[in-house]
Amino acid sequence: MNLCFILCLVSTSLTFTLVYGGVGSNVSYDGRSLIIDGQRKLLISASIHYPRSVPAMWPALIQTAKEGGIDVIETYVFWNGHELSPGNYYFGGRFDLVQFAKVVQDAGMYLILRIGPFVAAEWNFGGVPVWLHYIPGTVFRTYNQPFMHHMEKFTTYIVNLMKKEKLFASQGGPIILSQIENEYGYYENYYKEDGKKYALWAAKMAVSQNTSVPWIMCQQWDAPDPVIDTCNSFYCDQFTPTSPKRPKMWTENWPGWFKTFGGRDPHRPVEDVAFSVARFFQKGGSLNNYYMYHGGTNFGRTAGGPFITTSYDYDAPIDEYGLPRLPKWGHLKELHKAIKLCEHVLLYGKSVNISLGPSVEADIYTDSSGACAAFISNVDDKNDKKVVFRNASYHLPAWSVSILPDCKNVVFNTAKVSSPTNIVAMIPEHLQQSDKGQKTLKWDVFKENPGIWGKADFVKNGFVDHINTTKDTTDYLWHTTSILIDANEEFLKKGSKPALLIESKGHTLHAFVNQKYQGTGTGNGSHSAFTFKNPISLRAGKNEIAILSLTVGLQTAGPFYDFIGAGVTSVKIIGLNNRTIDLSSNAWAYKIGVLGEHLSIYQGEGMNSVKWTSTSEPPKGQALTWLL
Ligand code: GAL
Repeated sequence: MNLCFILCLVSTSLTFTLVYGGVGSNVSYDGRSLIIDGQRKLLISASIHYPRSVPAMWPALIQTAKEGGIDVIETYVFWNGHELSPGNYYFGGRFDLVQFAKVVQDAGMYLILRIGPFVAAEWNFGGVPVWLHYIPGTVFRTYNQPFMHHMEKFTTYIVNLMKKEKLFASQGGPIILSQIENEYGYYENYYKEDGKKYALWAAKMAVSQNTSVPWIMCQQWDAPDPVIDTCNSFYCDQFTPTSPKRPKMWTENWPGWFKTFGGRDPHRPVEDVAFSVARFFQKGGSLNNYYMYHGGTNFGRTAGGPFITTSYDYDAPIDEYGLPRLPKWGHLKELHKAIKLCEHVLLYGKSVNISLGPSVEADIYTDSSGACAAFISNVDDKNDKKVVFRNASYHLPAWSVSILPDCKNVVFNTAKVSSPTNIVAMIPEHLQQSDKGQKTLKWDVFKENPGIWGKADFVKNGFVDHINTTKDTTDYLWHTTSILIDANEEFLKKGSKPALLIESKGHTLHAFVNQKYQGTGTGNGSHSAFTFKNPISLRAGKNEIAILSLTVGLQTAGPFYDFIGAGVTSVKIIGLNNRTIDLSSNAWAYKIGVLGEHLSIYQGEGMNSVKWTSTSEPPKGQALTWLL
């Protein structure tokens, strides 16, 4: 009887656990917050993009986020990494989305899946596959049949994959929200009526996927119910929900920024980040997502452009290498703790707002059980303030929020950083030097010949658009032509040099004359167009002009960004017996890509297809050189 009693208890509790796990969670929302299994939730979320780190890093990254007080991981889904050609899907390695979602689930955290599938994200072509641009008649992000067809197909594919793996919260999985499109509201003005129709279609298409968890759209003020519109920007506290039925959620609070080649290292002080988060919760926010919490690396050719760097460190709370960045990570961890102490009264209480003097206000939340929490902010960015609140006096540093979970004691002020600081120093290693006792490093060197290799892909009078020609299968496009220089040219006698003048839509080029490097021209920041003008060495007789045009990542966003071109538009030589030769309508021979890429000399068998020269000193200042 006793035995039976014990066994019966064990089996009852097991059955209960299993059934509970299988049923999953119910996710809904009201004007205050998301509601998970009947409870309003205050959520701190962190963007970590799965293909921007390697799978071996995922568990530690997610654990470090959890230790930092994060409840939710948020990621985009990267369409062009998954649908390599129409209907040909890839989910291996860094693109193993299911595995990533399971790591989040194993950590006991929630997941927000921003399916997009347009994502921006400083990711090549905003995440949309380049092949889609070449399906006739396609215009991205408009009410356009080919685009909508492929977007719906991919969205459905992802939703079905998540359902199959039981990853939606309704199925017991971690996904509590999915996103369709990406801050489209910004672009409707450009796309006009067509844009409005498209946004409405996207929202309806999302809802028709029946995921049983809510959908969100960013910056889409008129998102139709039941889709929730959310905010992306530096400061979202001033935004009120567009409908009292929807919660205030901040999908992109930027704790730093991305980097471009030639640009400065972005930095946002943690005091300012903490201030923005505290103000958001002070003003009724219920979900804050850091974009990015770990930025990571743009591997391969995934960086968007032009000129987004390989590093996507973002000055984020976890650095590119997966280490907590201090004091950013630590200070935000303390902030999260303080906010969580107020969670219940913030979400279930009533609030009053009182002014405590110029630039200082308190938002006080109370409930019927007698709980009280207050946020006191000083939005004067220069002057500290002294205020009296409920008969006690408080010192408020400039541009700060104090959090009082019991309306008496300040447990946290956003401007007072007590977390330790760490500085990760990058120490240059002289790999070519041989230190005593160490083996000398050996380099294998292969130099490409400037100009087209093998047979030209085509010959054409005049120029082509670079991107339409390479279709982004490579960054490189060779152009070559030749000119005859008369032996009587003055510059030959004087020993002076004519100049090569090239106009390009972008992004970069290297110029060669008679196989000799003459210089590089490049755009800058978001201005990809540029003019190249350099003196060049010409000789009497035939001269070969070779131009290697390069793209450095495709555009990621903006109205009709899919039609922004690149490449050379005009080539002239100036300073020849006081005249200019325009080579723009010459016959140009074209070659797509460089030889080393074509032969895959950087991996496997391909490495044996060229002759490498061994050296302990890699050559300096030598163009078109591969180093192994
Ligand atoms: C946002 C966009 C993100 C990312 C960010 C800048 O507007 O939604 O995808 O591009 O800007 O890092």
